[in-house]
Amino acid sequence: MNRFENKIAIVTGAASGIGRATTTRLRSEGATVVGIDRDPVDAADLAIQLDLLDLSSIGPAVAQAVDAYGRIDVLCNIAGLGHFARDEDETPENWNRVIGVNLTGTYFMSTACLPHLLESRGNIVNTASTAGTNAQPWSSAYSASKGGVIALTQTMAITNGLSGIRVNCVAPGGVDTPIAGQFNPPEEVDHSIMSRIMPFDRMAEPSELAAAFAFLASDDASYCNGIILRVDGGMQA
Ligand SMILES: NC(=O)c1ccc[n+]([C@@H]2O[C@H](COP(=O)([O-])OP(=O)(O)OC[C@H]3O[C@@H](n4cnc5c(N)ncnc54)[C@H](O)[C@@H]3O)[C@@H](O)[C@H]2O)c1
Repeated sequence: MNRFENKIAIVTGAASGIGRATTTRLRSEGATVVGIDRDPVDAADLAIQLDLLDLSSIGPAVAQAVDAYGRIDVLCNIAGLGHFARDEDETPENWNRVIGVNLTGTYFMSTACLPHLLESRGNIVNTASTAGTNAQPWSSAYSASKGGVIALTQTMAITNGLSGIRVNCVAPGGVDTPIAGQFNPPEEVDHSIMSRIMPFDRMAEPSELAAAFAFLASDDASYCNGIILRVDGGMQA
């Protein structure tokens, strides 16, 4: 398949896990990929290191991508943080960090790319989670951020749909990536509710999520707009 020949994609979270696998997948199908991450990116054609909590760094990064390649066809917002906390222990700092990266970072990456996507009639693929489509314990900030990504996806899909832009969202279940280390259940809680977030059968490989991002970003998904594609191996079926 060469679905992304002559296409320029930006992928956030490109240093690790699902973002890295999506970078590799899009490139294998012909895309030129600009990889953005707080950590060094080794899988992209052009790597830009930035912290999405620093919103002032987003505009210059998008400008750098456009200077390099002249256009943007696809934006995959994949960077994200995990976080578990008992509600009574949550801090404003952690709440703001999780919402800041997962939701605010996603939104302002999208607005910075929007003028270029309007020109190319391109598309955006966001990253929610099964924590946003159903309840997940000990993760009010994370779940709120992912529920916000779902609302954002649907809102931007209809706001911009008549201009030829599609905005969709992948909602992964358990995927075998380093983020799992950020979901340690708090001490002295009832672990029986862990069953709500146990994968059905097995965890996914990052490449299985990359396939979903590549589908939604491609012309194969030309009639998909505002959809939330749950990729969870049946966990929430
Ligand atoms: N792995 C799972 O089980 C799972 C499940 C549901 C949703 N997700 C979502 O998938 C996305 C990718 O996660 P992953 O599993 O690949 O985890 P990961 O930890 O492997 O990758 C996340 C990437 O985001 C980057 N990042 C984090 N904070 C950043 C910041 N402030 N600025 C720039 N980059 C930053 C990290 O450096 C990392 O490279 C996240 O949005 C996550 O919430 C993952």
